Amino acid sequence: MRKIDVTRLPPSAAKESAYWLKERFEHSGSGVCKPKIAVILGSGLNDTLQNSTLLQRFYYQEIPHFAAPTVQGHSGVLDISEINAQQVAILRGRFHFYEGHSGSRVILPVRVMKELGVETLIVTNAAGGLNPTFRQGDLMVIQDHIGLPTLAGSNPLVGPNDDALGPRFVPMGEAYAPEYIQMAREVAAEHHIVLREGVYLMVSGPTYETPAEIRMMRILGADAVGMSTAPEVIAARHSGMKVLGISSITNSAAPETAKNVNHEEVLAGAQMILPRLNTLLTGILQRLTAPAFSPIKQTGVRSILYS
Ligand code: HPA
Repeated sequence: MRKIDVTRLPPSAAKESAYWLKERFEHSGSGVCKPKIAVILGSGLNDTLQNSTLLQRFYYQEIPHFAAPTVQGHSGVLDISEINAQQVAILRGRFHFYEGHSGSRVILPVRVMKELGVETLIVTNAAGGLNPTFRQGDLMVIQDHIGLPTLAGSNPLVGPNDDALGPRFVPMGEAYAPEYIQMAREVAAEHHIVLREGVYLMVSGPTYETPAEIRMMRILGADAVGMSTAPEVIAARHSGMKVLGISSITNSAAPETAKNVNHEEVLAGAQMILPRLNTLLTGILQRLTAPAFSPIKQTGVRSILYS
């Protein structure tokens, strides 16, 4: 069994990991490591976004303060790739509370991304569909979340605050950027992908929900349930990043199906979604990395400016 270090990481951890990544990246001749966008790929979703140009790959085991994933469906790889001549960091796998990690390690990848200069975080996850209209294989853009563990004490920001990173008390009113939600809607429509919208509820796991818990979650107004994401989004908002969240509905979370749900079903559901998730994320990343000034689209403006 792999040993997990459950202790809180030192405040310098993210800086040390980022320093190591920058050094390695530059020594390999790829230039300066400066992604502005990072994507975290959740359970069973690690194999998406393979078509961008890979600049460099790092394995979690080798990155200081990172750890090897313990869960099937998480590759434990950080890719720095290039889309439209812009670097994008793709984190294939994440750290969960249920593995025994401290909140500080759960949010370490987000803090490291911040150190590298990331301004936009895209989080994806596998989730059970609480909303009875959702089906296995659906995609859902996250409008908001309910973090049961983060509400009740397991908030990754508990402890001394790093004022250089963000404020002590963090507003979560627009945790998921409305303009990114709109962008996701538009890209989905362009590609004829049905995109659900809803509230993601985080549990610590690793148990799936009892029927009574599922009924409670529905009453609370949640549409999907999963074991991740809320801490990462909290860390991202703390340090001023803009966030987009996409849930892959890998199984139904209904009182009637609660006794049969298992990780294999979740991975099979994720597999079903991969091609559409890939199209959606690729389209969103194309938009986010598109040059701000496009001579093709703005020929009228150019002719006024330069004629
Ligand atoms: N419950 C909690 N977490 C999950 C589920 C679920 O049904 N599916 C995928 N992650």
